[in-house]
Amino acid sequence: MNILVKTADSTAITTPCLVFFMPEDRISSQFLSLLDEHFGKLVTAAQRNNEFRGRQAETLLLHAACTTGPSRILLVGIGKANAASLDTLRQAAGCAVAVLKQKNISKAAVSQSGLSIQRATEEQQAQAITEGILLANYQYLRYQNSNPDTSKALKQIVLLAAKAQNLSLLRRGTDKAQAICAGVHLARDLVNAPGNLKSPEFLAMQAVAMAEQNGIKAHLLDQARLQQLGCGALLGVAQGSARPPYLIVLEYTGDQTGTAPLALVGKGVTFDTGGISLKPADKMDEMKMDMGGAAAVIGTMLAAARLEIPINLVAVVPAVENMPSGNAIRPGDILTSLSGKTIEVLNTDAEGRLILADALTYVERYKPRAVIDLATLTGACIIALGNQAAAILGNDDKLIDKLLKAGQRSGERLWQLPLWAEYADQIKSDFADVKNTGGRPAGTITAAAFLQKFADQYNWAHLDIAGMAWEDKGKAGIPRGGSGFGVRLLIDYLLAEAGVK
Ligand code: BES
Ligand code: MN
Ligand code: ZN
Repeated sequence: MNILVKTADSTAITTPCLVFFMPEDRISSQFLSLLDEHFGKLVTAAQRNNEFRGRQAETLLLHAACTTGPSRILLVGIGKANAASLDTLRQAAGCAVAVLKQKNISKAAVSQSGLSIQRATEEQQAQAITEGILLANYQYLRYQNSNPDTSKALKQIVLLAAKAQNLSLLRRGTDKAQAICAGVHLARDLVNAPGNLKSPEFLAMQAVAMAEQNGIKAHLLDQARLQQLGCGALLGVAQGSARPPYLIVLEYTGDQTGTAPLALVGKGVTFDTGGISLKPADKMDEMKMDMGGAAAVIGTMLAAARLEIPINLVAVVPAVENMPSGNAIRPGDILTSLSGKTIEVLNTDAEGRLILADALTYVERYKPRAVIDLATLTGACIIALGNQAAAILGNDDKLIDKLLKAGQRSGERLWQLPLWAEYADQIKSDFADVKNTGGRPAGTITAAAFLQKFADQYNWAHLDIAGMAWEDKGKAGIPRGGSGFGVRLLIDYLLAEAGVK
């Protein structure tokens, strides 16, 4: 999509549609009379008749009374002015796109007049609007030859600046949004790719291609190298699949002074059948999203590089396919992990924690100042939090607090679960150092307790994104399919960590 920033008087600009964001209260009468002048009192009439009050996600599309200026106006509610946040605005922009697409309007101008989100700059507002638009306009088209909806995507957006001095400010906002959304879109593309296309090798090649185009170092550890190292947990999961595993490593150096990196680890199960502990057929197709953590991490690396965040990052993605076969691991098998710890596999469907165990040990060599892993790890997380937040657990409350705050700011919400020592009792094994399931109670926590045993050398936070990586129905700003959850959250955290606004 083409995104332009222009100085222009909103009611004079020629455009198929002019978008306004309106609060539920506090619409200035000056502003209303300006709109009425151009739209023949339609806005006031719509308000009087309760057709449009400015409630959040409420929209109203009107045709202009004059022959000059915008042909239509689209009002989008943002709710009570003092409760509206940047995330409200981002979602409202997503609602605008939904209406424009539905009406087959491919070009629009967006006004910021009358809009002031508390504690936000105009740059931030422009960023939020652009993000909302780009995220809502996303489509995965690789396999769609004849879908009539594909032609309905927005092609051009013009952001209007009230004053010429604001142009560069707004442009900074739209540039940032485009960098971040490139990361989100990459993550979505990776999740939406079907399992037949998306082998561990495919994921590795996509990561390498992205890295090469963005000044990021990449290297791959193949099966032979993983055997040499002794990554028995990762290799155990991989052995049921005809497609070999990879450990994908990306390094971004944004800070040349050689400070310790932050490490991002993402679960990369390209398809999770459950293995010998086979999953039921119903909705198994969704298990192509079991690399949502990997996608978020790879997308974040892209966005961080585009934004040139002054921080050092290393991303580690264990990429495997979890399949049943004559070579697959069995319940009761014991694997020796890279750390040397032995793991009794009681359920081959608890594979994510196995591959993460080796990845978490592998990152130790970078002496990271903190490690954050993202994983579609447990169905129990969906039972606990549904599709409204990811779970966060870890061994460092400061790190967790920072991530919780980034979650609030970005709208990609996190909720902390406890990781009390007693939970580890549930994963004690009679035959090995640890077992890979802790039974049904507190399934998300016992999975984290398992990971904790491999993350004891550094500050660590674990994000269980099982309920967030896949959007089942489609909602404001997220079409059905991969959501790209985690990219905006991590970028928000990284920008704060690097001390840039
Ligand atoms: N990938 C799944 C978790 C999952 C389920 C993610 C639904 C997204 C949606 C994971 O590998 C898994 O199968 N976990 C098991 C663990 C159990 C066997 C201890 C689960 O949650 O049932
Ligand atoms: Mn599984
Ligand atoms: Zn899984």
